[in-house]
Amino acid sequence: MTEPMRLSVNIDHVATLRNARGGSFPDPVEAARIAMAAGADGITMHLREDRRHVRDRDLERVATEVACRLNFEMAATEEMVGIAERLRPPACCIVPEKRQELTTEGGLDVLAAGPFLAEAVRRLAAKGTEVSIFIEADLRQIEAAARLGAQAIELHTGAYADATPSERPAHLKRLRAGAEAAAAHGLRCHAGHGLSYETVGPIAAMPQVVEVSIGHFLISQSVFEGLPAVVRRFKALIAEARP
Ligand code: PXP
Repeated sequence: MTEPMRLSVNIDHVATLRNARGGSFPDPVEAARIAMAAGADGITMHLREDRRHVRDRDLERVATEVACRLNFEMAATEEMVGIAERLRPPACCIVPEKRQELTTEGGLDVLAAGPFLAEAVRRLAAKGTEVSIFIEADLRQIEAAARLGAQAIELHTGAYADATPSERPAHLKRLRAGAEAAAAHGLRCHAGHGLSYETVGPIAAMPQVVEVSIGHFLISQSVFEGLPAVVRRFKALIAEARP
């Protein structure tokens, strides 16, 4: 039987709203609690170098106060690896990070990465954290992630999610091949970026993909429907599409 798929709710945008007024509301930690109570399987937070959305204290509070599978999204830098070693989250996702970008624009180029990426994977895994690397569905990148000793990859679904309906089958074919290659290399496969009610189903239909990480659409749609309702609807769409 196909393993169930986890929904990891990215709460970065709750912090973006809070920061817009400089106060403490809305609290991303409260959002994490509400998402978990509504049936989410985990919480994702990306602590950026410039702390533009979640801050160190938000991450620490979720890590210590909220019963969840925390997925700490981070750049492979000494500072972030140090924070992860201290907090020991169940999961980390290593992403590329550019200061000017609005969001993580592309996957990490594992082939071009320097030696610190391997060190980061080693150090995080030594603390018992499941390490995934956010990459494009490119066979060479997947092989390189496996060689590095990552336990998982997260496939970048942004191009698929942004494509027109007629362009999507070609993107799905590439993502499916990536998910199959990940499994063949013994890597657990996650997926995320840009997913919505409309685009999550075909990803959930891929049996190798065991987790999706969703933020922007999910938090934005919560303005209209409320966070628990949106989490429940995503869970239902995933269950419906799962083989
Ligand atoms: N996965 C990774 C690695 C990301 O960087 C992001 C964006 O923070 C997401 C998933 C979620 O993307 P979105 O906010 O578009 O749902």
